[in-house]
Amino acid sequence: MLLVQQLTKCYPGADNAIINGLHLNAGAGTSLSIQGASGCGKSTLLALLAGFERCDSGSIIIANQQLDGLSAREADDFRKHHLGVIFQNYNLLECFNVWDNVAFTARLKGNYNHQHQQQLLEELGLSALSRAPVSQLSGGEQQRVAIARALNHRPAVVLADEPTGNLDEKTSNVVSDLLFSYCRKQEITLVVVTHSRDVARRASFQYSLHLGKLCADSSRAPQ
Ligand SMILES: Nc1ncnc2c1ncn2[C@@H]1O[C@H](COP(=O)(O)OP(=O)(O)OP(=O)(O)O)[C@@H](O)[C@H]1O
Ligand SMILES: [Mg+2]
Repeated sequence: MLLVQQLTKCYPGADNAIINGLHLNAGAGTSLSIQGASGCGKSTLLALLAGFERCDSGSIIIANQQLDGLSAREADDFRKHHLGVIFQNYNLLECFNVWDNVAFTARLKGNYNHQHQQQLLEELGLSALSRAPVSQLSGGEQQRVAIARALNHRPAVVLADEPTGNLDEKTSNVVSDLLFSYCRKQEITLVVVTHSRDVARRASFQYSLHLGKLCADSSRAPQ
């Protein structure tokens, strides 16, 4: 579960806070989509939730743990156990092949399972590429490796920044179906930032980020 209260972040030198008193509440197995204009702060919000950026004020609770205020080392450890992060620019480990990239966090966490990973790669259409160096993959293939890596260690919360931004429409549909249904089945809370209406629509609750706050795009939203 994910609970965010009064979250505020202002980059040094900026006139206004990019995240400004933001609230968010999402239970296990729930998915949220966040849309918004380029530069409105979507990636910043995910970086705060992942503990890569420090907030100026407010509170972030994930899997019953207070995330704000952790040291960089504690945040690293927290991510390894509880978070799956799909970065806008993938952040794959260039020196490893597909299989070892996907296995990376699960091995660190200690819940690596060969069969589980094999099935995940198959569902994402990556089986034939499992021994390929990631530097030789297309953008869309790298994006799917990043998704597999984020899911493989079965985290409590997955944060996905434009997870289908580099995929053609058909692959985007297949991959988003897998991402949403996997998280629902595994009781993972999923936060997806996207510019795609089709992807956003798959979420249980749809939001837009505007002036540092989330506005519900649907009357079903929990706030
Ligand atoms: N480390 C930083 N230091 C200062 N300003 C930053 C930093 N990171 C982002 N910004 C600024 O904060 C604003 C929001 O950036 P962010 O990357 O969160 O936008 P976004 O909504 O994800 O945009 P996009 O849809 O293009 O990915 C931008 O104006 C950006 O220049
Ligand atoms: Mg972004």
